[in-house]
Amino acid sequence: MTYRNRAEVVESELAAYSADTFRSISPLGSAMAERIARETLVFLRSLAPALTAEKSLSEPLLLDWIREFQEFKSCEYDRLRLGVAGSTLTGSLLWLWLFCRLLEPEVYAECGVFVGSSLFTARHACKVAEIHGFAPNLTNLAFRDGSIFLHACDWSLEPLGIHGKRALCCFDDHIDCAQRIREAHAMGFRNLIFDDCPDIGGFHRYRFIGLPTVPLILDQKLADGESVDWYHPPSKKNLINTFRADHVAGVREVIDFATSIPSLESKFGLVTHEQWFVRLKS
Ligand SMILES: C[S@@+](CC[C@H](N)C(=O)[O-])C[C@H]1O[C@@H](n2cnc3c(N)ncnc32)[C@H](O)[C@@H]1O
Repeated sequence: MTYRNRAEVVESELAAYSADTFRSISPLGSAMAERIARETLVFLRSLAPALTAEKSLSEPLLLDWIREFQEFKSCEYDRLRLGVAGSTLTGSLLWLWLFCRLLEPEVYAECGVFVGSSLFTARHACKVAEIHGFAPNLTNLAFRDGSIFLHACDWSLEPLGIHGKRALCCFDDHIDCAQRIREAHAMGFRNLIFDDCPDIGGFHRYRFIGLPTVPLILDQKLADGESVDWYHPPSKKNLINTFRADHVAGVREVIDFATSIPSLESKFGLVTHEQWFVRLKS
């Protein structure tokens, strides 16, 4: 299936989902924001020192960032009504916001901009970054900003040459993560966020997913030719994929470290899809 055909199928699948998943963190208040700051600090500090060295992270600093996020979400973001079905939702956006603030990327690239929830969040979180948004179909994008370079194609067709070590790339296009890691590495990106990137147990939520996902790429127990299958309730379909060892060959080797990003959903009610942060070797 070509990228364009696949994008059209994904769009129509998304349109069929319920739009009732959006939640804002604005009403949570200050005590909850403090708790979120505490939790996110523990996680961010657990990342390799290489990532956090340039900023000395503290709870008050994170609390400031979270307050700014709350402010941004309750004003401009909500006014544009970006949080529709199929877009990145609050918990995942908060993580994206924090990574953007932490890394202060010189360049931010996003594959799979859809309505623009995550792109808009990144634009506000890293005000001076050069930003590129990619998607074969840009007609659903709910905001346009002259400072953002938009590309109506797969990013492999208009590759970026990246030299800054803080450059950040976010994938929410549901395309093969092994391919994306190879491409990002070839372009010089070192910091990657994968959205909607579950391990096998979370596959049931998806019909189209970027296989192999990052946890599958890292799973040493998966054998070549092994079947990965799951049931997708909304479409009533049994889906199946075959893991190919040669397809991931060389990919683990360019990963410096990779970690799943904690969900903010069960504790704080902020809808968080399965996200991974991947740091590549230079
Ligand atoms: C889950 S949505 C992204 C939601 C987006 N982050 C937001 O907040 O609005 C996935 C999007 O990826 C797009 N897509 C599909 N193939 C793509 C490709 N090869 N490159 C970039 N985007 C692609 C689909 O058209 C779809 O709009």
